[in-house]
Amino acid sequence: MRPKIICHMVTSIDGRLHPSRFTAPASGIDAAVLRRHYDGVADSFKAEGWMVGRTTMQEIAKAAARPVATTSYLPRETYSADRRNRNLAVAIDPHGKVHYGKDNALGDHVVAVLGENVSDAYLAELREDGASYLFAGPDGRDMPKAMHTLRETFGVKTLLLEGGAATNGTFLKQRLIDEISLLIHPAIDGLAGVQTIFEYAGAANENPGDGQALRHVATETLEGGMVWLRYAVEASPASRGA
Ligand SMILES: NC(=O)c1ccc[n+]([C@@H]2O[C@H](COP(=O)([O-])OP(=O)(O)OC[C@H]3O[C@@H](n4cnc5c(N)ncnc54)[C@H](OP(=O)(O)O)[C@@H]3O)[C@@H](O)[C@H]2O)c1
Repeated sequence: MRPKIICHMVTSIDGRLHPSRFTAPASGIDAAVLRRHYDGVADSFKAEGWMVGRTTMQEIAKAAARPVATTSYLPRETYSADRRNRNLAVAIDPHGKVHYGKDNALGDHVVAVLGENVSDAYLAELREDGASYLFAGPDGRDMPKAMHTLRETFGVKTLLLEGGAATNGTFLKQRLIDEISLLIHPAIDGLAGVQTIFEYAGAANENPGDGQALRHVATETLEGGMVWLRYAVEASPASRGA
């Protein structure tokens, strides 16, 4: 079993993912109201945690690297620190590059999803921080295994996948997304080459969404003109042999 995974993102009308690049709100529209919708909608899902890729987590957790003395081998086994009933902040960090310096990110308990090749010193650092960790195979890329551990060991039934582009892309490719919650910001980016909300790094003839179909669940217009779209991700009729 794995958690239900809801990909929750905010985007400009041209599908780009850097809010700092979006055009300004129209006159009379409060930018703070628009910004607040992202967390408000996220809270409405009552998920037990949120998950981001290594790059996004490094924008949130900005502690400096520090040497942690360790003399002993630490087993490559799930480590559950004291969660104290908090939701989880899950980072997909195969090489152990993120430094937290504490046991939480934005107040939620850190769980690092790692490759077994990370160093003992890095594992010791996480333990010293009070953070938890689990392993996604030798190279940290076995997401079904990692999601299984989140469900079975950490009891996560619903998890928000909150980017960035590459992480969303790999979860799409691996068919690990059950629902998409998309906030369309009344703004445009417009520059060629800027990341979109799904960026799977595959060959030109690959279709990361192959075998999947989106079923519209709901559309709501929120204060300030933000549009909230929800889709369920299903197996496509062709992949079911229909
Ligand atoms: N608009 C929004 O709602 C929103 C939400 C979140 C983030 N963002 C923005 O998105 C940008 C970052 O996006 P990004 O695509 O550059 O990076 P990202 O998805 O945050 O992180 C990518 C990295 O995560 C690791 N990773 C992700 N999936 C993996 C998998 N399946 N297996 C193994 N490793 C995996 C890899 O780390 P290694 O490179 O270490 O191998 C990979 O390079 C940021 O600027 C952030 O602000 C926007």
